Amino acid sequence: MDLDRRDLLRWLGVAGGGAAAATLGACGGSSGGGAGDARDPDGGAGPDAAPGPDADPACRPTTGDAQGPFFEDGAPMRTAIAGEAEPGTRLTIDVEVLAEGCAAAAAGVLVDIWQADRDGAYHGAGKDYRLRGQVVAPADGRFTLETIRPGNYALGVDAWRPAHIHFMFAHPDYAPVTTQLYFAGDPYLPPNDGCTTCGSDDPDRIIALVDDGAGGLRGEVRFVLRPR
Ligand SMILES: [Fe+2]
Repeated sequence: MDLDRRDLLRWLGVAGGGAAAATLGACGGSSGGGAGDARDPDGGAGPDAAPGPDADPACRPTTGDAQGPFFEDGAPMRTAIAGEAEPGTRLTIDVEVLAEGCAAAAAGVLVDIWQADRDGAYHGAGKDYRLRGQVVAPADGRFTLETIRPGNYALGVDAWRPAHIHFMFAHPDYAPVTTQLYFAGDPYLPPNDGCTTCGSDDPDRIIALVDDGAGGLRGEVRFVLRPR
């Protein structure tokens, strides 16, 4: 079953799609009995993980962001999130997962990754977990994702989300984090993100993409996890 804008609007509690900005402000706020962080319905890093003003900018703990409605358990273990036939601009992302302080890798962390296709639609388990995968961070915390650049998707009338990839980090020794990765230059980054409670204003999670010399794009990102 494809997951599309209707699913998103249903999740948002928007009937008919005539969403106003105020309604869209609930984008990350449907956590109900969750951790109480509108940015992080899944109980991720949340406001307690907000970096202090003196934190090394290259080593600030990763902040949480809305999980959204499209997470699914059981994605295959793979770094090739997009298959070879997946339409779209190829995107390679070098990922580094470190422990707070950045002196050591957060080896063994289970990283769940999911994203929309180039047209902004999500696909579920019934679609062979298209554009989804899980990775266990290796000893050096580094791995490379092979995917496509996700598309923007609408939240309602004249309200769009910046393109993003969802990440979820889990390990007994680290506080769980559910977050999103964004791309510099996206016209729907704040102040234009239709999800007014999402965390797309965190510069640590907005990465620059460069031409990879082969018709695709490449970027890199570091995630920093706090110990429990
Ligand atoms: Fe999303």
